[in-house]
Amino acid sequence: MGLPDIFSRHLDQVDSYLLNSVPPDLPASLAEPIFYFLKMPGKKIRPLLVLSACEAVGGKPEDALPAAVAVELFHDFTLIHDDIMDQDELRRGLQTLHVKYGNPTAILVGDLLIGVAYKVLLRSPAAQLKPVLDIFTDTLVKVCEGQALDEEFEKRAEVRVEEYLDMIGKKTAWLIQTACALGAICGGGNPEQVQHLSRFGYAMGLAFQIQDDLLDFIADETMLGKKIGSDFRMDKKTYVLLKYKQTLRQYPHLQSNYPLDIHRFTEFEAFQKALHELGIVDAVKQDADRYFDEAVTALQAGIGDDRDNPLYQLIAFLQNRQY
Ligand code: IPE
Ligand code: IPE
Ligand code: MG
Ligand code: MG
Ligand code: MG
Repeated sequence: MGLPDIFSRHLDQVDSYLLNSVPPDLPASLAEPIFYFLKMPGKKIRPLLVLSACEAVGGKPEDALPAAVAVELFHDFTLIHDDIMDQDELRRGLQTLHVKYGNPTAILVGDLLIGVAYKVLLRSPAAQLKPVLDIFTDTLVKVCEGQALDEEFEKRAEVRVEEYLDMIGKKTAWLIQTACALGAICGGGNPEQVQHLSRFGYAMGLAFQIQDDLLDFIADETMLGKKIGSDFRMDKKTYVLLKYKQTLRQYPHLQSNYPLDIHRFTEFEAFQKALHELGIVDAVKQDADRYFDEAVTALQAGIGDDRDNPLYQLIAFLQNRQY
């Protein structure tokens, strides 16, 4: 299932603004990899959240278009650096930037994209520029913190659920929260609306990363556009792993068949099988759904219960996503 058709106009606007945001006359060694990355088929859910949040508070989407594109450029920057950190080879169904062009180019393209993101963001409505820049900049700091925690956790044997939630809150949910907040601010929303839409984005961001963790174990690679098993290989402390260990501790008799230390699974496929057998896949989906429910509650408080509103349709799309 793809994105609902109601988003196609916004998607076209975002795509053309995004490609036009690249400065002219870049050295060829930068221009080629940047366009390679920007033309990849990403879902663009963050810019769609910006534009839909803007419209949901009664604003004109043109006023939020710079913020929408800036958020996607920010996201692209994090993905390029994340793929270097996670040593991944495939992104959006194509070779990752560092594999195709080398680490120095990939680092530089990421750096340039965040610069371009700020240039675009500065075209936001003058009256809202100060809070817009504040929120965007805070998010840049948060994502770096979250990514640092993600790396630290690779080296730790145990991570508590609260620590995990704090980490994914920073690396993923903050930017999704920011997308919603920027849309509401640029659309002239009142402080309560901005607050409710921020909570909506944060809860949805937590659900989104828990799903991402699950997809890394169970997705169809062609559909996902990424190689699965990456988190297992990198010893990431994902929600799936936490749930697996929690289940074995709750039912110790299972430990005779399923090791608490997953390093004892020599094959990724054997761990995948255990996750299905123990009902971990369904349990993780249910936990993600609890955060989606929280997101719906916050959205109702912010914009009312009009289920035809595109933001509700975005939740439904994300809740059922397989990529
Ligand atoms: C991937 O985000 C990174 C995470 C925060 C989990 P998306 O799944 O939104 O990636 P694209 O933009 O659609 O490729
Ligand atoms: C995404 O985490 C976080 C950021 C990109 C900031 P992941 O490392 O799980 O994302 P994917 O799975 O590579 O897209
Ligand atoms: Mg990654
Ligand atoms: Mg990562
Ligand atoms: Mg992932």
